Amino acid sequence: MTSVGTHLKKIVNKPENWDFSGARSLYAGVDIGTYKAIVIVVDETGYPRAARMNRTEVVRSGLIVDYAGAVATVKEMIESIRARSPMPIEKGATSYPPRTEDANIHATRYILETLEIEVMQVLDEPTAANQVLSLENGAIVDVGGGTTGIAVIQDGDIVYTNDEATGGVHLTLTLAGHYKIDYEAAEKIKVNRKKHQEIIAIVRPVVEKIASIAAGYLEKFDRLDKIYLVGGTTELKGFKKIYSQMTGHETFRPPSPQFTTPLGIALSCLGGNQADRTYVEDVAV
Ligand SMILES: Nc1ncnc2c1ncn2[C@@H]1O[C@H](COP(=O)(O)OP(=O)(O)OP(=O)(O)O)[C@@H](O)[C@H]1O
Ligand SMILES: [Mg+2]
Repeated sequence: MTSVGTHLKKIVNKPENWDFSGARSLYAGVDIGTYKAIVIVVDETGYPRAARMNRTEVVRSGLIVDYAGAVATVKEMIESIRARSPMPIEKGATSYPPRTEDANIHATRYILETLEIEVMQVLDEPTAANQVLSLENGAIVDVGGGTTGIAVIQDGDIVYTNDEATGGVHLTLTLAGHYKIDYEAAEKIKVNRKKHQEIIAIVRPVVEKIASIAAGYLEKFDRLDKIYLVGGTTELKGFKKIYSQMTGHETFRPPSPQFTTPLGIALSCLGGNQADRTYVEDVAV
C-alpha cells in the first residue's frame, strides 16, 4: 500500500515504472493547464498505472489559445503511454476551469476525440479535485500556474465556483524582478525545495494577495470550516501557513497537491464505483 501522491511522483514521465499487469481496463484523465498538460492513466480500481506531464503554453487565463499545440502535446503523451500498454486506451475524461464553460468544454472534448478517446466526462476542475478529496462541506482553492480556481461544497454538492487570474506565474515574475534574472531562471529557483525558505520571504506579498482574493469570494459562506489547497503553487513550503494566517480558515493540503485535480479527472471515468480503490488516499495535513 502506498500513498497515491508518492506513487504518482514515481511514475510520472518514468515509463520504466509503469505497470499495467492485471489491469482489466484503462482510463485516461487529461488536464491541460496554463503551466503543464498531464495525462494520468488509471485502471478499473482507480489505481494510476502510467502518467505523463509536459510543460505547455497552450492555455492562457484558463482558455486554450493554441489548439493545434494542445492536440500535439496531448497526442505525444497519450501515444507514448499507448506504445507501452498491453491493451487499448480508448476511454477518458477531461476538465475546464470554472466559468469558462462554453469556450472550453468543446475544445477539450474535441482534443480527446481527435485522439480516438471516447469522452466519458468533461467536468470542471474543482469537481475533479473533489473526486479525490470527497469533501462534504468546505472549499477547494486550486492555485495553479495562471489561475486560482475556487469552489464551495455544501452537503457534498458544489454550490459556488469562481476562477481568478492569479497563480504561480506571478510568484515567478516577482522572483525574476527580485533577483534580476529571466523568467525561466526564476522558475527553476522557485521549484527547488531547498530554496523555499528564502523564496517565501520574497513572494509573501503575492501569496497574501492570492489568499485575500480567495478569502473575499469565500466570505459570504458559512460552515466553511475547512479549506483544501491544491495545485502546483501550493507545493511552495510556507504557502499553506500564510494562507491560513491571512484568512483564519483551517487549511489542509494533500502531500502532492499538483496531482489532485488530474487524478480526479481520471477517477471520474469510474463514476461512483470507486469502492475497491487499491491505494491509500493522500491524507491532507
Ligand atoms: N515544487 C514547487 N514549488 C513551488 N511551485 C511549484 C512547484 N511545483 C510546481 N510549482 C508551480 O505550480 C504552478 C503550476 O501548478 P499546476 O500544475 O497546478 O498548474 P496548471 O494546472 O498547469 O495551471 P492552471 O490550473 O492555472 O491552468 C507553476 O507556477 C509552477 O511553477
Ligand atoms: Mg490546473
